[in-house]
Amino acid sequence: MSALAEAFEVQITGLRLEAEGVISLELQAPDRQPLPAWTAGAHIDLLLPSGLVRQYSLCGDPEDRRRLRIGVLLEANGRGGSREVHGALRLGQTLSIRGPRNAFALGAEGPYLFVAGGIGITPIMAMAREASRRGAEWTLLYGGRSRRSMAFIDELQALGGGRVEILPADEVGLLDLDAVVASAAAGKQVYSCGPAPLLDALTARFSEAGLDERLHLERFAPAAPVAGAAGDSLRVILARSGGEVEVLPGCTIMAALRAAGHAVASSCEQGVCGMCETRVLDGVPDHRDSLLTESERAKGNVMMLCVSRALTPTLTLDL
Ligand code: FES
Repeated sequence: MSALAEAFEVQITGLRLEAEGVISLELQAPDRQPLPAWTAGAHIDLLLPSGLVRQYSLCGDPEDRRRLRIGVLLEANGRGGSREVHGALRLGQTLSIRGPRNAFALGAEGPYLFVAGGIGITPIMAMAREASRRGAEWTLLYGGRSRRSMAFIDELQALGGGRVEILPADEVGLLDLDAVVASAAAGKQVYSCGPAPLLDALTARFSEAGLDERLHLERFAPAAPVAGAAGDSLRVILARSGGEVEVLPGCTIMAALRAAGHAVASSCEQGVCGMCETRVLDGVPDHRDSLLTESERAKGNVMMLCVSRALTPTLTLDL
C-alpha cells in the first residue's frame, strides 16, 4: 500500500480559460523549487479551501519539474469541487496538494492509440507527449461535444500534427469504436480517458472481442454505485503487524482498519484512484473498484481497501 501521502503547498501561477467550461491551473512551489517527479497518466489531489478533495490528472510536461498543470471542467451538476475551482480560486493563491501518483501509467509496449473524450484529454495529452519523447508510434482520437468545448486543441496539433484527429460530435458524430477495436486487434495498445458512457462502451466491446489486455482506462467516477460496506462480516489478518481486525456488515475494510488504529492511505474512497491498493496474501477479494482489469482481478493478489470486500470469511493482507 502507498505510504500516507503528505500534503504540500503550491501557488497558482497560471490560470487560463482553455475552452468553454474548461480552465487550466499552473502550480509551482511558493519558493519555485523543483516539485516531485511524476510520469504521464499521474494525478494529484487538490485540497480545496472548503475541505473538498478532488483528483485531477496532470496534463503538463513531466520534464518540467517546476510546474504542474491541470485542466478542470466546470460540472454544474457535480459534487461542488469544480465549481469551487472555477469560482473561488485566484491567480497567486496558495493551496495544498498531495501526490503526484499514477494509477494509469503508460506501458512500455506500443504502438499506442489514445482515445480521449472531453476533459479526459488531460492524462492523454501527457501520454502523447511521453510517447513522442520515446519515439513510439502513436495516434490520438479526441472527441468532444463541440470544438469550442475541447481544450488544448492547438497544443495537441503542434505536438502530433497528423497523428491527432479532432472529432467534435456536432461536426462528425460519435467516435468510431469499431475502428478502435480493429486497431487493437491489429496490435495497438489503447489508452482511454473520458466520460463513463465512452469507457463503458469500450470495455464492453473489448471484452466481446477478447482484447481486454489491450485496453487501459482511467475513470473520473466509479463505473457503478459502490457499496463497499455491504456484505457479511469478515476477518482481516495483518501479516506484517500481526493484528486482526473484524469488519462488520455496514463498515468498509478501510473504515474498520482505521477504527482499529491502523493508518490507511486514501484519496478518492470510491475505487477509482488506486491509492489504497494493498497486496492480498491469502483469501479471495470481492473486487468492487473501477480500476483493476479482469486479468488483474483474476490474479487476486491486490485489492482496493476503500470499496472491495471478500468472498472468503478471512483475508490476509500485506499490512
Ligand atoms: Fe481511491 Fe481506494 S482511495 S481507490
